Amino acid sequence: MPDRFFLPTRIISGCGTISRLGTEAKKLGNRALLVTGRNSSRRTGLLDRVSHDLEDNDVKLLLFDRVEPNPRATTVDAGAELARREGADLIIGMGGGSAMDAAKCINLANASHKSISHYLSGASRIRTAEPLLPLVLVPTVAASGSEANEGAVITDWESHQKVVVFSSLLFPTLSIVDPELTLSLPRKATAQGGVDIFCHVVESYLTTDNPSPLTDGIMETVMRMAVENLPRALEKPDDIDARNSLSQASTLACSQFVDLGGGAGTMTLHGIEHPLSGYYDIAHGDGLAALLPAWMASFFAERRERFASLGRNVFHQTDGIAAVEDWLNKVGMKLRLQELGIEQERLDEVADCAVRTAPWLANHPTRLDAPAVARIYRQSY
Ligand code: NZQ
Ligand code: ZN
Repeated sequence: MPDRFFLPTRIISGCGTISRLGTEAKKLGNRALLVTGRNSSRRTGLLDRVSHDLEDNDVKLLLFDRVEPNPRATTVDAGAELARREGADLIIGMGGGSAMDAAKCINLANASHKSISHYLSGASRIRTAEPLLPLVLVPTVAASGSEANEGAVITDWESHQKVVVFSSLLFPTLSIVDPELTLSLPRKATAQGGVDIFCHVVESYLTTDNPSPLTDGIMETVMRMAVENLPRALEKPDDIDARNSLSQASTLACSQFVDLGGGAGTMTLHGIEHPLSGYYDIAHGDGLAALLPAWMASFFAERRERFASLGRNVFHQTDGIAAVEDWLNKVGMKLRLQELGIEQERLDEVADCAVRTAPWLANHPTRLDAPAVARIYRQSY
């Protein structure tokens, strides 16, 4: 068992559970800052539905619908300013990982009376002037798993640093995971999300040097759920069973659940992808997909058995790397950095940023210093 399992979040999941948001919100507050993206929740009609539900439950809605994909510190600070000015006593984050992470950090900035940038410089202990507000998260994308963890990824667009803010203060009070909300997700965002779910698990699964049967069992199941259901959801976007499996896998994949048996590895692929999104605003899932093959090859010799069990237990094939590449092809995510608009002449600069913003790269099975990161970028170009 790991030395710590702490998940103070109540999770309500299943089709139709969004209808419980109003009554659950009323138990937590009266003036809710609703943090969401700039158009999808309006376009899908979800914003309307939720606004009426909150009104019917006598919860005042304060709308903050300005979150961009790869959420920026300036946007978070604007949301915290609105929360303070309007006296919000509850925060609801509704959308993909971008909206949910922004909601977490608006809550933190509001309670600390500081710009969120204060926490992007890797401030170790996070202390706040007052307690954070109750936080409800409603994922509309199966990808980040932000609804069940204590992390949030925010970009300081000036410095192009995309940083993970990590604190148990960021755990949601309640998350409502309704897979029906993901039915409207376009094909590309569905595929990007499925790759993100898979990477949340495969990175830790492959890099570990002390695997545990329990953790392997959980991780292999979650990876199979992503690997088997992403093609189904792409094939038939209204396949609610496939969408439900992807939502369940998403909630588990980036949470402590997948490390329940201890022996987890490290998410170094995420550490080298984030700077690419920080510099070029590319979709997180696209960056992961483009880097995945070269990242795996960088330590294959050091973890042969892990790659063999990945192939055997997740893909029912012998060669783990080839199986992953076949799957990326199958879901239309066999990508190159060049086609994502990354500039070859800046790869060393981005690699330096990776080493600065992701200290856990030091735990990679092989030396992952700036030149090694730049090599993976070049091999993925
Ligand atoms: O921006 P809006 O209008 O909301 O539209 C979004 C966005 O354009 C749209 N969308 C969301 N739900 C939809 C929908 N369109 C139709 N129907 C729906 N139901 O999809 C686009 C992508 O949304 P976004 O939130 O950016 O995607 P995702 O959920 O993949 O989140 C990516 C963010 O999560 C962070 C990433 O760094 C990135 O910033 N992550 C957060 C993690 C965490 N907190 O644990 C871990 C992850 O590894 C990841 O790093
Ligand atoms: Zn991710």
